[in-house]
Amino acid sequence: MVSRFVVCGGNKLSGSAEVQGSKNSALPLLAATVLLNGESVLYNCPDLSDVDASMRILRYLGCEAKREGSALVIKSSGVCRDDIPDCLMREMRSSIVFLGAVLSRCGRAAMTFPGGCELGPRPIDLHLKALRTLGAEVVERHGVIECNARNGLRGAKIALSFPSVGATENIILAAVTADGTTTVTNAAREPEITDLCEFLNSAGARIYGAGEGVIVIDGVESLSGVNHTIIPDRIVAATLMSAAAVTGSDIEIEGIIQAHLGSIIPIFEESGCDIKCECGSMRVKAPERLGAMPYIRTMPYPGFPTDAQPPVMAAAALCDGTSVFAESIFENRFKHADGLIRLGADIKVENKVAVVKGVKSLYGARIEAQDLRGAAGLIVAALAAEGKSEIGGIEYLERGYENFEILLSSLGAEVLKV
Ligand code: UD1
Repeated sequence: MVSRFVVCGGNKLSGSAEVQGSKNSALPLLAATVLLNGESVLYNCPDLSDVDASMRILRYLGCEAKREGSALVIKSSGVCRDDIPDCLMREMRSSIVFLGAVLSRCGRAAMTFPGGCELGPRPIDLHLKALRTLGAEVVERHGVIECNARNGLRGAKIALSFPSVGATENIILAAVTADGTTTVTNAAREPEITDLCEFLNSAGARIYGAGEGVIVIDGVESLSGVNHTIIPDRIVAATLMSAAAVTGSDIEIEGIIQAHLGSIIPIFEESGCDIKCECGSMRVKAPERLGAMPYIRTMPYPGFPTDAQPPVMAAAALCDGTSVFAESIFENRFKHADGLIRLGADIKVENKVAVVKGVKSLYGARIEAQDLRGAAGLIVAALAAEGKSEIGGIEYLERGYENFEILLSSLGAEVLKV
């Protein structure tokens, strides 16, 4: 459904807010359930349109998938299909992680190229090359990717030329029940990869080195259903930190893992926020006006996450000084800059660098979000803008943020979804 947020900016935020479960963990975990025999329960699973899309894919494949409060219950014993129709693939980028899982489970997988936010070209060459190395025959014809491994997949050595998150997940899902040992060098080290490996290991897999650059997977015969709690969403935590910082507020963010925010906390500290973490909770006390941020370059984990760049840029828009953002992961990830400029920000974008000269005030305006994290950035800025803003494109936001208007309102912001 097409909806808009109406934000009356200027309120200080206060009180505490709980961070939802991680979207980027939930999606590969849901794909992984295809490989399990029996029932699995995923606790702390955010209620998002991308999660709904994954559940629709699971049901199409023959699994039972239902939501019980914040938990998802999946039974995969009935998997009876090895294809995913285009309409389901197009709903999100992450649909591609079903490729490794379905291929591993069925010995064949056929699907079209995935959809997702337009952040520039998002090839899947690393995914397909890795599956070929594991012994799959991969044919791309008329936009359909068809993978065959009738005699099963075989463990192999795979060196990724870039630590792609999705490719690392696909390799893990394909190799977990392959014959023999797979070694992935230059693997992605994101916490969501570690969460996936912990889930699979408790289901009987033998994966070593998750969170490090080299992952070793000893193939096992079969995996059984498990119960698992999804890690907190570090990008939602970064968004709330940005919201506190831009409004000069003092808030508590509950349910975080401090280590996952290791590249984000120092940015806010250097711009003047007082941040204290204790027992899974973080207090962010922002100054009346933020100082300039240190140079930010997005990098694979443990570097600064590209997904946090838009909300943090929104906070930088009101800094006392100039902040520089270099985007090294995606080609086209400054689309939110246009919306921020409409609110009065002073931002110059050249290729993959954005220079943000802090202004004293932002002013409410009608703006349009163009991707998921960009939507979060525009909302963060609107919280601090004088007067009323209307933000369209909320369907992007809802792919990754659960009831965000309710969360922000509980902190004292004036946000209405219409
Ligand atoms: C995941 C996250 C996304 C995040 C991104 C980078 C999920 C659901 N999504 O996306 O939120 O922004 O990591 O942290 O977890 N690349 C190739 N060939 C490939 C694969 C990737 O060239 O086969 C390139 C991409 O074009 C991009 C870069 O590698 O420039 C990073 O992509 P990748 O790490 O794969 O991101 P996703 O898994 O798509």
